[in-house]
Amino acid sequence: MKNDLLHAIYYWLRNFYWTIIRRDLQKGKSLLLASDEITQEEKNLLDKVSLDINRKDTMYAPGRAVAYLSVGLSAIRCINKALENLSHNLTVKSILDFPGGSGRVLRFLRVKFPEADITASELDLNALEFCKNSFNVNIFPSKIPLSDVVNPNRYDLIWCGSLFTHIDEKEAIELLKFFYDHLTDEGVCVFSTHGTLSIEWLEDVNKNPYGIPDDYQKKVLSEYYAKGYGYTDYVNEPGYGISAVTRQRLNEMAKSVGDWNEIVFLEHGWDNHQDVYAFSRQKAK
Ligand SMILES: C[S@@+](CC[C@H](N)C(=O)[O-])C[C@H]1O[C@@H](n2cnc3c(N)ncnc32)[C@H](O)[C@@H]1O
Repeated sequence: MKNDLLHAIYYWLRNFYWTIIRRDLQKGKSLLLASDEITQEEKNLLDKVSLDINRKDTMYAPGRAVAYLSVGLSAIRCINKALENLSHNLTVKSILDFPGGSGRVLRFLRVKFPEADITASELDLNALEFCKNSFNVNIFPSKIPLSDVVNPNRYDLIWCGSLFTHIDEKEAIELLKFFYDHLTDEGVCVFSTHGTLSIEWLEDVNKNPYGIPDDYQKKVLSEYYAKGYGYTDYVNEPGYGISAVTRQRLNEMAKSVGDWNEIVFLEHGWDNHQDVYAFSRQKAK
């Protein structure tokens, strides 16, 4: 009897919580639709975008729906710039979102490219399954090391938001190679890194932008200044942490994996935070 009552209260509280989350996303969407900050084309995308949210989405915080949706729209803006800057007209028929997370950007790719064959990959299998069911995309699991990933396909557009930002230089070079190998000859790969703005934040003693201890911040900064790529693990998370890279070092790394060109560089172009690069085997305009 007592257990039944506790269960009923638990389910009521859980439903109440998710009603609030759904309202938060609806309200965020309405606020953005009414704002002057985004274009009519972006409002059209927002109008169609799915507001399905994964209960375990680590990128979404209750009350932060405007920020969550704005980050997705900002990614589309970066991708548009990359496509505009190619010397040829690219019809995007296939897309890889790597890592897709729980679909913060993927949901916008789905409505921006309704005809495209979209694939998401992730280490987090719960997030991957959520994306498959919510956004009608193909999925394949990622692996560590990347060389263990079995996927023979190539894509016209590869989007990688916020993964280079968390890995060391050796892994970043492997990731660039993976993208080079999975990009079509005409295709474009668009990805984000931490650059000069992140370095400014890390140097500011009044800020702790990435939640890491001071000596960890200093490690990133000293390696960044010494060799162009700085990295530290998060506390107790070997192999995953915070990185920052100069444009020069990033280009050297990209050139070391294949014959492709920087098409676009947008300094803190993704959501006024991360730098964005686009690379293609083709030339820029
Ligand atoms: C900061 S989140 C970004 C997720 C998504 N791109 C977004 O913007 O919402 C980083 C994601 O990278 C995933 N990840 C970390 N290492 C990975 C790897 N080697 N292969 C694929 N995904 C990885 C994590 O599981 C996490 O979901």
